Amino acid sequence: MKSRIIGTGSYTPEKVLTNYDLEKIVDTNNDWIVARTGIEERRIAADDELTSDLASRAAERALEMAGVSAEDIDVIVVGTITGDYPWPATACIVQANIGAKKAHAYDVSAACSGFLYALASADDFLVAGRGKRALVIGAEIFSRSCIDWTDRNTCVLFGDGAGAVVLEAQEGDKGVLSSHLHSDGNYVDFLYQPGFGVKHQPSLEGLEAKLPFLKMNGNEVYKFAVRMMTEVSKEALKANGYSSEDVGLFIPHQANLRILEATTKRLKLTDEQSFINVNKYGNTSAATIPIALDEANRGGQIKAGDLVLMAAFGGGFTWGGTLVRW
Ligand code: ACO
Repeated sequence: MKSRIIGTGSYTPEKVLTNYDLEKIVDTNNDWIVARTGIEERRIAADDELTSDLASRAAERALEMAGVSAEDIDVIVVGTITGDYPWPATACIVQANIGAKKAHAYDVSAACSGFLYALASADDFLVAGRGKRALVIGAEIFSRSCIDWTDRNTCVLFGDGAGAVVLEAQEGDKGVLSSHLHSDGNYVDFLYQPGFGVKHQPSLEGLEAKLPFLKMNGNEVYKFAVRMMTEVSKEALKANGYSSEDVGLFIPHQANLRILEATTKRLKLTDEQSFINVNKYGNTSAATIPIALDEANRGGQIKAGDLVLMAAFGGGFTWGGTLVRW
């Protein structure tokens, strides 16, 4: 029994924020952003759009492709760190929005690795025979939750969006072959949002110290991301007896172009084997992989029987690699 991806969907907000727009907000310029990150523009959610709205639209598109009704979904797992509320889970709001009456729903907090963690959790559930269909979503609105729009070091990197897949338990050789998840909590403060949780409760002093905003050690994150995404990709291939030349398409977490190119090179993958759309959306955290998967799928870049390799790295640190037979 395997969890087969039978539908993909994505939704990115209409509003486009270009590097030239950012030049008017912080002391930056298009050339710097393109040279250091490969990002040309990103999408920004409308004031009345919530993370659950982005997630629900992506989910509806995935369900439509799968030809499955929301009422046939047994579990909804959303990877997000920018949910509508601290609690309850954004997945519960999605469940109500799309009318997935019989599904139980929960969020997974693994930062940029959130989608692959959510996918592994739903896969375990289906392979254990506890349900037939799952909806797995990555959705984020960083622009309104943790971006400091006065910090040029970080505000240029991120964007908003959502992607989703429908999984169905099926006999046969197609579906998720294996997931490999890792964490190292020794590096929490290399990439995190210090406030406002239990450690730093809401206060005016905390706000002045910018605690509710994302903090990042960019150089260290860069090095770890390349190393860990490479290692976990090799681990996933090796566990299934494959090597780089067997990969049909590599879908790495779209953090920035230099991380993607360095990882692809270390894995000895060709440009044709690697999917890149970070130039259009920036880093949408847990949403990058399912958005990329949907674009590649709808664009005809994945054929039945292809090996699809996905790898992610994010705050925690967390990282993961998943191999799928399409
Ligand atoms: N515009 C212009 N100049 C800038 C900007 C900007 N937006 N941001 C920083 N600079 C300046 C710095 O102030 C610094 O100036 P200085 O030399 O006068 O002090 C100079 O550019 C170089 O700064 P560095 O931080 O050394 O630049 P670097 O080449 O390392 O690039 C970057 C920074 C892009 C953040 C890089 O470290 C990186 O890609 N890190 C990974 C971060 C990442 O992708 N995070 C996403 C979350 S984690 C994940 O998804 C995997």
